[in-house]
Order: sequence, then structure tokens, then C-alpha cells
Amino acid sequence: MITQDQLPMVAMTSMNDTHLEDIIIINKLSEAVVNKDTVLTNSILEELIEHTITHFSGEEEMMREKSFPPYLVHKGEHDRVLNELKAIAQGFSQSDGDFQLVMAYVDGSLIPWLINHIQTLDTVTAMFLQNGLSPCSSGRQG
Ligand SMILES: [Fe+2]
Ligand SMILES: [Fe+2]
Repeated sequence: MITQDQLPMVAMTSMNDTHLEDIIIINKLSEAVVNKDTVLTNSILEELIEHTITHFSGEEEMMREKSFPPYLVHKGEHDRVLNELKAIAQGFSQSDGDFQLVMAYVDGSLIPWLINHIQTLDTVTAMFLQNGLSPCSSGRQG
């Protein structure tokens, strides 16, 4: 579980809204796992994959439009985590109700990653997209 006050805020409202939607789905997933509801867990994992694809591709499109210099670094993290999430969803659907797999992933990997990712790459990306501030710039000149 992740509470809304644990969610770091960035300089773009649309990104914050997407992140909020993300944690709502993640918490629904945790609840389905705690209730050991196999059908619901499978369907929320699919929902989370779909939402994550939209979330990541939306950020990547904005970064490409504005030629964000560390685009490939940010996209690389997205690709890695999306593949990990897909592997967990596949692992769960092929298992005989391995709720521990999903719980360990959500609490031990996905949530800590999401918080860290928003605090670092998403934060500098939002600053750049919103204000034209480069992550490499040393401040305003003159
Ligand atoms: Fe994000
Ligand atoms: Fe991101």
C-alpha cells in the first residue's frame, strides 16, 4: 500500500494526476492480493499494465517533443520496469495463486521504485518540460 502523502509532487499537474491514478490502481491490487482474489488480481494486473503503458508513453512523447536531453535514460527505466511488471503478471497468471509473488513485488520493488523515480527522473523531466530548465543547467544566467 502507498498513501497519497507518500507520493512526491512534480512541476506538472498532468503528471501528478497520472501518478495519483497509478497509486489508486496499485492499492486496489494490494487489496485484491490481501483478499486472495485470483480473478481480480489478474484483472487489476492487466489494468496496471495498460495504465503504465499510457503513463510512460505520455511522458516519453512530451520528452521527445521538447528534445529532453536524458530521454534515453528515462525511457530505459520505463522499459525495464514495464517488462518487470509484465513478467510478474505472467508469473502470477501461470501460478497456482502465488499472491506472495505479487505482494513482494508491489511492496518491495514497484512502490519504492515509483517513489524514487518520481523524485528523480520525473522531477527533472517536469521541471524541464514546464520551465525549460535543463537538468544540467547551473541556474539562470544574467
Ligand atoms: Fe511518471
Ligand atoms: Fe517517468
